[in-house]
Amino acid sequence: MSHDDHVTLESRDLTKTYHSTDPPTQVINGIDMSVRKGEFLVVMGASGSGKSTLLYSISGMDRPTSGNVFLEGRDLTSLSDTEMSRVRLTRMGFIFQQAYFLNNLNIRDNILLPALKAAPKERETAIARVDALLERFGIAHVGRHGITQVSGGQLQRASICRALACEPSILFADEPTGALNSSMTIEVMDALTDVHREGTTLVMVTHDPACAARADRVIYLRDGLLVDGRELGTWSEEQAMQREDALLAWLRKMGF
Ligand SMILES: Nc1ncnc2c1ncn2[C@@H]1O[C@H](COP(=O)(O)OP(=O)(O)O)[C@@H](O)[C@H]1O
Ligand SMILES: [Mg+2]
Repeated sequence: MSHDDHVTLESRDLTKTYHSTDPPTQVINGIDMSVRKGEFLVVMGASGSGKSTLLYSISGMDRPTSGNVFLEGRDLTSLSDTEMSRVRLTRMGFIFQQAYFLNNLNIRDNILLPALKAAPKERETAIARVDALLERFGIAHVGRHGITQVSGGQLQRASICRALACEPSILFADEPTGALNSSMTIEVMDALTDVHREGTTLVMVTHDPACAARADRVIYLRDGLLVDGRELGTWSEEQAMQREDALLAWLRKMGF
């Protein structure tokens, strides 16, 4: 099949219906979207508009009801569960509102775990990579701490390290700052901006316009449909306020 080299991830006529409810809940109603290689894309929309469901459907965390999802031209919907798990582990990184770390492991071991699982024979390489990540994101000094002994911002930076530990080509983040105060939010957004600048493709759901203003492009969901999108171009600290103001005006027009 033909495939645009600049496109990393693509969905075609994606739908998702939850059959656990009566009547079934149709949440995603036919979404065509694409993410360019190296792009920082933000997904916005009211609560319940289907943002998380879309993220889970395009990242293979959940299977869509119909339609296709292509990662670098490969149809993820045709993969078995085992193949899909492998793709998630080795090609994708995930960050959620909560860290979902194991209580009985320290921060460093939590980050190391998926890297060792992905490549058990390359233990030394994984350890060196994880230690470099801890250093880079300023949490090396809390690597041996338990997960309840660090701040929320440090824990989310640890989530970013874990997501990067297997050197993914694409990172998915669902409200990564949703549980953080404003200074921790900036801390985590600075880290994500850095990850994006380094070349990692990033797809992030957020309801915070200040966070969304960091993106290259924002798309807007309403009732499981993609209603509009806006190119913002490359973020810079100096233009942060103007970008946020322009984005807010656009969001208000859509009833956000
Ligand atoms: N597992 C599920 N079973 C049934 N309905 C669900 C499930 N997950 C989400 N929904 C429903 O789908 C809609 C969209 O949810 P979600 O994708 O979480 O929206 P958002 O992230 O934009 O807030 C909501 O009405 C929600 O109640
Ligand atoms: Mg959500």
